[in-house]
Amino acid sequence: MIGDLSARGIRLTTDAEAVLPSNPPNELFQKILALGKPLISREDILLLINVEVKRPSFFSPPAKEYSANIKIDHRLDVTGKSRTKGGVDNFVSHFRNRYERISRMLRRSGTGDNIDLCDVVRHINEKVRIIVLVSDVRETKKGNLLFEVEDLTGQFKVVVSNEKAMEKARNVLKDDVVAFSGKILEPFLIAEEIEWPDLPVIREKKRTEIDVASAYLSDIHFGSRYFLDKYLDTFSDWLHGRGEAKELAGKVKYLNIAGDIVDGIGIYPNQEKDLVVKDIYRQYQMFDDFLEDLPDHIEVIAGPGNHDAVRRGEPQPAMGKDLFESDIHRVGNPCSFSIEGIKHLMYHGTSIDSMIASVPGTSYSHPEKVMTEYLKRRHLSPLYGGNLIIPENVDYMVVEEPPDVLHCGHVHKNGYTQYRGTFVINSGTFQDRTDFQIKQGHVPTPALVPVYEMKYGRLHTLDFKSS
Ligand SMILES: [Fe+2]
Repeated sequence: MIGDLSARGIRLTTDAEAVLPSNPPNELFQKILALGKPLISREDILLLINVEVKRPSFFSPPAKEYSANIKIDHRLDVTGKSRTKGGVDNFVSHFRNRYERISRMLRRSGTGDNIDLCDVVRHINEKVRIIVLVSDVRETKKGNLLFEVEDLTGQFKVVVSNEKAMEKARNVLKDDVVAFSGKILEPFLIAEEIEWPDLPVIREKKRTEIDVASAYLSDIHFGSRYFLDKYLDTFSDWLHGRGEAKELAGKVKYLNIAGDIVDGIGIYPNQEKDLVVKDIYRQYQMFDDFLEDLPDHIEVIAGPGNHDAVRRGEPQPAMGKDLFESDIHRVGNPCSFSIEGIKHLMYHGTSIDSMIASVPGTSYSHPEKVMTEYLKRRHLSPLYGGNLIIPENVDYMVVEEPPDVLHCGHVHKNGYTQYRGTFVINSGTFQDRTDFQIKQGHVPTPALVPVYEMKYGRLHTLDFKSS
């Protein structure tokens, strides 16, 4: 029957296919044609075969009464703006852009005289502050840390031996832009203090005037055999007012999706055995079906992740209409936008892996700690080459403005914190624990959805594993 319908330009959602009787009578076929709809939902089929569909009679979401207020900052989105050919000049422009923008922040935040590295020789035995990009770091035989550093005027060496500065020094990553303060004892600067650009200490927490909420998803992995379709259906049902906490459901106006929408194909060796849908377009078709099923008043903002079908290196451009058709806000990765005036920075989080491997005290169980490191460094992928980065002439990974919400995913583990006025949210996954994760000892937290009430600054986590 599906083939006959499709020949007449009528398609069934995956849900609808699942409830279709095994030998559908011709009468049902005629009834479907009579609906005159190009896309047939699960509810349509259930109504036609006289199965009672429970519909809440009184769910009237307040979010429906407001028009959407989303402003996407296209200056900070690579979509349509990739200029690089990956040549030496692109690398130079990329690092120069990173250095210039982050050093400007450090100049504003610090005290003391900043000197350029070309002037170091004129300040022997004096206390100075230098703002530099770290090109290398190693431990000396005496257990001190030796940094090779550079700015736009020259190169120098920095030694940290002071116990007080040592703990901070161990957190300095290659390619970080930092300020070192200390005395010049040629050929070194002996550092006593290290500063990252960081967020301003005091920032006013923004609230919306209207009482609406924003929900956060990532790492759905449509197409994977571990994809938890029933739990995602329960989430969608909840947004329709079917379930508990109806009042909160009715406030949800925005849905942010931070990448890994599909499981993709060829992402890792032998991925085929983990896929139930091996066609990338059918994987995105499942996403289209999910979007189609959402209440009309919900605005969706979605960017790609490392499993999605855009270029693998970051920054990634927005997913195109060739992948899915629904009319949503398509953004790059990373991307900045404001929702009702609340500034959001959304980044898939691919660099969390290299950060965990390099920053002491970080782990997969607390992705929010890594995300705080992004804010401190004002950069979303500090270690160049830890994950694939495309050297665009503008470094799109710089955290230009302090966001009110930083939203990432990638590690399939929910995590939250507040850092200097920024709500830090890792939105987990809708994928079950994979064999690979079992081997790694990683315990994901599927089907937990953070929902932020923006008028009150309250974050809720809803568990869709239970109905
Ligand atoms: Fe990912």
